[in-house]
Amino acid sequence: MPGLKRILIVEDDDSLRESLEMFLSERGYEVASANSGERGLAMWKRFQPAVIILDIKLPDISGLELLPRIASQDPEAKVIVITAFHDMETTIEAMRLGAYDFVQKPFKAPDLDRVIAKALHIAAATRSHPPVIGREQAPDARRRIIGDTPEMNSIFKTIGLLSRNRATVLITGETGSGKELIARVIHDSSQDKLQPFVTVDCTTLVGNLMESELFGHERGAFTGAVENKKGRLEMAGQGTIFFDEIGELPLLLQAKLLRFLENREFTRVGGTQVQRSQARIVAATNRNLKELAQQGRFRQDLLFRLKVVTIAVPPLRQRTSDLPKLVKYFLQKINQELGLGVDRVERQAMERLAAHDWPGNVRELRNALTKAAMDSRGPVLLAEAVAEALAVSAPEPAASPRLSTLEEVEHQHILYALNENDWNISATARALGISRPTLRKRMAHFSLLRQA
Ligand SMILES: Nc1ncnc2c1ncn2[C@@H]1O[C@H](COP(=O)(O)OP(=O)(O)OP(=O)(O)O)[C@@H](O)[C@H]1O
Ligand SMILES: [Mg+2]
Repeated sequence: MPGLKRILIVEDDDSLRESLEMFLSERGYEVASANSGERGLAMWKRFQPAVIILDIKLPDISGLELLPRIASQDPEAKVIVITAFHDMETTIEAMRLGAYDFVQKPFKAPDLDRVIAKALHIAAATRSHPPVIGREQAPDARRRIIGDTPEMNSIFKTIGLLSRNRATVLITGETGSGKELIARVIHDSSQDKLQPFVTVDCTTLVGNLMESELFGHERGAFTGAVENKKGRLEMAGQGTIFFDEIGELPLLLQAKLLRFLENREFTRVGGTQVQRSQARIVAATNRNLKELAQQGRFRQDLLFRLKVVTIAVPPLRQRTSDLPKLVKYFLQKINQELGLGVDRVERQAMERLAAHDWPGNVRELRNALTKAAMDSRGPVLLAEAVAEALAVSAPEPAASPRLSTLEEVEHQHILYALNENDWNISATARALGISRPTLRKRMAHFSLLRQA
């Protein structure tokens, strides 16, 4: 077992080697040194240092040759390469061959000291933290929702019940909390899991193509409709159609979606044939739809149709007891994706994670862990790396709201005027300065019917 305070210096420049030896001994390290590659190798075997300071240009064998031999026999050894060759290739090669760090000559002794201190910190942390992830444990390829709080367990129960029917589901929760994952697991657990799962991103449904995107169109329905096209609803077959960010759905489409939900029938734009769809509707939002409805920006009646079953995903900050499980789960995935071997977590790292506010929820956790795992440079997820990752992991601010189309503004304004005039057609038409037939036509266009 390597001595934790032992440092080996392999450097052929006598004056540099001697001054380093002196400096490090004064700092309390046990220091040995060698002035050639062969001597360095022999000394390494005998001395078993935790840190090796290695020059690249040596009189006999190159440091770049020595490096993989050391790294393969003692993966925990921290080799710090010091060299005046600081071209890109050498640096990349040294890191690839398993160097812990690369310090350019000339350097100041305290800078090297800091690198050494961090290397030794990693070595010590590796010893004092047992692995929490078995190396042989292959990550589960299936989609999984990690969580063990009462709220999460009740979500699992709901998903189980949903597997027996095709009820419409509304999933609410903050950004990154797992809404889409839950939608997919609902689909995967259903009897029609082999049918398609089709996503409709409601933030992109703008302009006059939006209706055709959803319901499809017939050739010649509008300029540019050169052939018949299936809409998302048709593509979903008997599967699931996932309306992501349903709060952003333009009012016009809200009306059309509502009509579809009422009778499960639709026609392609420009078509006459009525089609039926039994696809399950799952909608997700991070907005407060009730509030949007009060502001006239989301149809109350559509909201009622959607929330047959509601799943409210708790934000991560309200279920920090799930953190250890989530961390293990993601580290396994990250190790596999990036070829890392992070299998331990420094105690203070977990405390930092638990103290964080998680505005970006599980997505933020995964991103922060990826960065921290890369920066930890060893088998232990370091508290310092976690702190640095968290400092930059805050999610991008929500995209600025899309500009409403004139048609949406008209729809909203007519709805507003109707409400103001108690749905009295004459009074509303007068207030809007249009004739009653025009108002009736526009109301039909927007499927505005008095709500019960
Ligand atoms: N409980 C969980 N267990 C495992 N992975 C999760 C969990 N929750 C979320 N994730 C993962 O976190 C990431 C973000 O989740 P997802 O995309 O489902 O969030 P969202 O709620 O749809 O976010 P947004 O509102 O920003 O669209 C995904 O990689 C997802 O797989
Ligand atoms: Mg999402």
